[in-house]
Amino acid sequence: MKTLLVKYTPREEMSNSKKLLDIFRNEIKNSEVEVLDLCIDVPDMFDVENMSAYIHRNYLKEEISDAQKKVLAKMDRMTRQIKSADIVVMAFPMHNFSTPAPVKAWFDSVMLKGQTWDAADGKYLGLMSGKKALVIVSSGGLYTKEPMIHWEHALSLAKVEFQFMGFSDVRGILNGGMNAGDEIQSENLLNSLEDVKKIAKEWYGN
Ligand SMILES: Cc1cc2nc3c(=O)[nH]c(=O)nc-3n(C[C@H](O)[C@H](O)[C@H](O)COP(=O)(O)O)c2cc1C
Repeated sequence: MKTLLVKYTPREEMSNSKKLLDIFRNEIKNSEVEVLDLCIDVPDMFDVENMSAYIHRNYLKEEISDAQKKVLAKMDRMTRQIKSADIVVMAFPMHNFSTPAPVKAWFDSVMLKGQTWDAADGKYLGLMSGKKALVIVSSGGLYTKEPMIHWEHALSLAKVEFQFMGFSDVRGILNGGMNAGDEIQSENLLNSLEDVKKIAKEWYGN
């Protein structure tokens, strides 16, 4: 079994998301662990060249040149990596109500047609069935009540991406209120910590 930890925690030791991911990592048993740090290994974004190569290869099923293969190489590497994992655990902060740009670029890199999802007869098909994913997001504000519940596009987006790829078990922890005062911050972090441990115990046993 292999677990892939995908992190984007630029506040490093100050990061609450990193703290929660570290707790999860301590609970992992009987699994190889691989870490992808998106602060260091920054995913490519789509541009004119790699978009063209991607469409010609993955949608039009054409042969592409070596130069075109090269511009897709990082996306292909990250796609091979997610395909090799049985469990994917992500941790990152909410930035401007959504996922930070490198996290979105990672999803764009691994959600390659014909690799992690496909389409046939007008229907989409996730190719990652049997796999599990957990997304841990920290936010300064709280998103549990009206009207703020509609402003949350970080955890909800990441969960949809995994569901679209066909992951069988997709969980999420929104560690909210990290800038909402000491009392709320410590209470919510403690609850998130318990949730992280509970999911790890369920997935890896005691
Ligand atoms: C650039 C930036 C944008 C942010 N945007 C939001 C936001 O839209 N909503 C929110 O609730 N918190 C926002 N925050 C606060 C962080 O989500 C919060 O501090 C969180 O705890 C950071 O995660 P970390 O502790 O893992 O570093 C933002 C922080 C930064 C630095």
